[in-house]
Amino acid sequence: MCGIIGYTGEKQAQPILLNGLAKLEYRGYDSCGIAISAENIELYKDAVRVEALRKASPELKGTLGIGHTRWATHGAPSRINAHPHLDCTGNIAVVHNGVISNYQELKSRLVDEGHKFVSETDTEVISHLIEKYYHGDIEEAVESAVADIEGSYALIVLVKDEPGLAVARKDSPLILGLGDRENFVASDVPAILDYTDRVVYLEDGDTGFITGNDVKVKRDGKEVEREEHKVSWSVEEARKAGYEHFLLKEIHEQPKVIRSILGEYTREKELVADTLGVKDTDIESMLIIACGTSHHAALVGKYIIEELLGIPVRAELASEFNYYSHTLAGGVSLAIIQSGETADTLKAMRKLKEAGNRVIAITNVVGSTASRIASHTIYTGAGPEISVAATKTFMAQLMVLYWLGLSYSRLDARRLSGLVKELRQMPGKVQQVLDDEDSIIEQAKYLSGFENVFYIGRGMSYPLALEGALKLKEISYIHAEGYAAGELKHGPFALLGTDTPVIAIVPEDDTYEAMLTSIKEIKARGSPVIALAEEGDETIEELADAVISVPRVDRLFSPIVNIVVLQLLAYYTARERGCSIDFPRNLAKSVTVE
Ligand code: AGP
Repeated sequence: MCGIIGYTGEKQAQPILLNGLAKLEYRGYDSCGIAISAENIELYKDAVRVEALRKASPELKGTLGIGHTRWATHGAPSRINAHPHLDCTGNIAVVHNGVISNYQELKSRLVDEGHKFVSETDTEVISHLIEKYYHGDIEEAVESAVADIEGSYALIVLVKDEPGLAVARKDSPLILGLGDRENFVASDVPAILDYTDRVVYLEDGDTGFITGNDVKVKRDGKEVEREEHKVSWSVEEARKAGYEHFLLKEIHEQPKVIRSILGEYTREKELVADTLGVKDTDIESMLIIACGTSHHAALVGKYIIEELLGIPVRAELASEFNYYSHTLAGGVSLAIIQSGETADTLKAMRKLKEAGNRVIAITNVVGSTASRIASHTIYTGAGPEISVAATKTFMAQLMVLYWLGLSYSRLDARRLSGLVKELRQMPGKVQQVLDDEDSIIEQAKYLSGFENVFYIGRGMSYPLALEGALKLKEISYIHAEGYAAGELKHGPFALLGTDTPVIAIVPEDDTYEAMLTSIKEIKARGSPVIALAEEGDETIEELADAVISVPRVDRLFSPIVNIVVLQLLAYYTARERGCSIDFPRNLAKSVTVE
């Protein structure tokens, strides 16, 4: 959701801010703006894309400035509601990511004290609070203002005649980028990666002040040291590298992602006991919490861990889990959270921690809030995922779940070593799917003409049906439903017909025969069936209207190859329909509000 950036140094700030905002576009937004401090604070903002802002904004001269991409929460997308927000004097400008939960109360108080508000946003209370508390010391003013605020915030404050930027964070990500006679502040690494790979991750409750030559971080008014980190991503990784869209590039990066996770985790089996913090024999059950695509990974994880460890596993939507609590128990929980910042998952993690659970975060973002809350963090190391639709991070999550499952497995040694050996074949199997996309493109062209599609699967393929449908709906805007194949006849059959194709995921596992029956029932109702089936499956060739063949793999690993087909199917369908693939309407990459 909202992205923020600040620059202080010797260069002109405007191009750096606009470039940074373009790099933050992936977070999702509907308006954007910048403010630069020179003799006065000059501001330009609108409900437009960053490129339009770049073209329309006048040249604002100055070497100190802030910028923002806004994803509307309080008030519609509009020029007035776009950030930065000013105080009454026009000398204080603020950009904010987060939600101020007590803003109504603060606003009434400030209005009574004579402050004039112009927008409908919660953020505007911050600029007025800082105005109220500013008597020449910006650090003190920001500390006083944040003491009044309830909710979440990553803030950058620009004040006329101050030599730098004041910053503060709580429950929203904020990093400092360290340069040579210049410094940066941003929501996320991609915004600053063109300029520096040296970063400091601010912690919840930190405030600070940065100039071109100095970075000061404070906690409770006292200066504190924060460790400097080197970003492991390269600038190239955050670029399209010749692909038409980030999404296609990220789908194609999956063999590399699998290889890297295998290299990272499967050699050192002794790491595992530290990871879960318990001996394998002590784990009696497991809870996995997540949202969206990560929840689909959790559902696959449920099948993996139940099968390999022989224990019951619950996979819960964090947003639902947060509203009941009677089943909490001290134990091991996994939180799958690609961005490390999803508000619902963070809330569930805190709740689990408070109840005495050991919470293991599986995340792709180093220094994220999830990693700070977690008892232990497993990094997926998939590199930057820019496209809003999650693909390679889903694959990385699956790989971590396979690794955990196999490491704690109670299988006999022979079956276990066979599985580990086969897991090492997965980069090649995925590459095979990527190299053979013609049949997928053909089916995508066909699908692009429909407005409703069903995805079905059983067992491990059921969460894949959910994920395939989610991918299609979010990037192609086709209404798609993922269903457990056995459930279709309990209601959705009413929707079947020639205008509703069904994508059936049919690995040759225990669900195979039942899937064949489902397909026959669907065909009898007139729906065209496109099946994902293993190479050489002649039975399915005769039954389905079209077949997309996938490489043969052990039944436990079928999600790894099938998901790539579903991702490509969604991608090429959206491309055929001319959709905004990397940045779908209304969506944000990291959902930092409840
Ligand atoms: C799917 O393509 C989306 N990006 C979305 O469902 C995402 O998985 C969800 O918002 C959860 O994100 P997280 O993993 O960062 O918590």
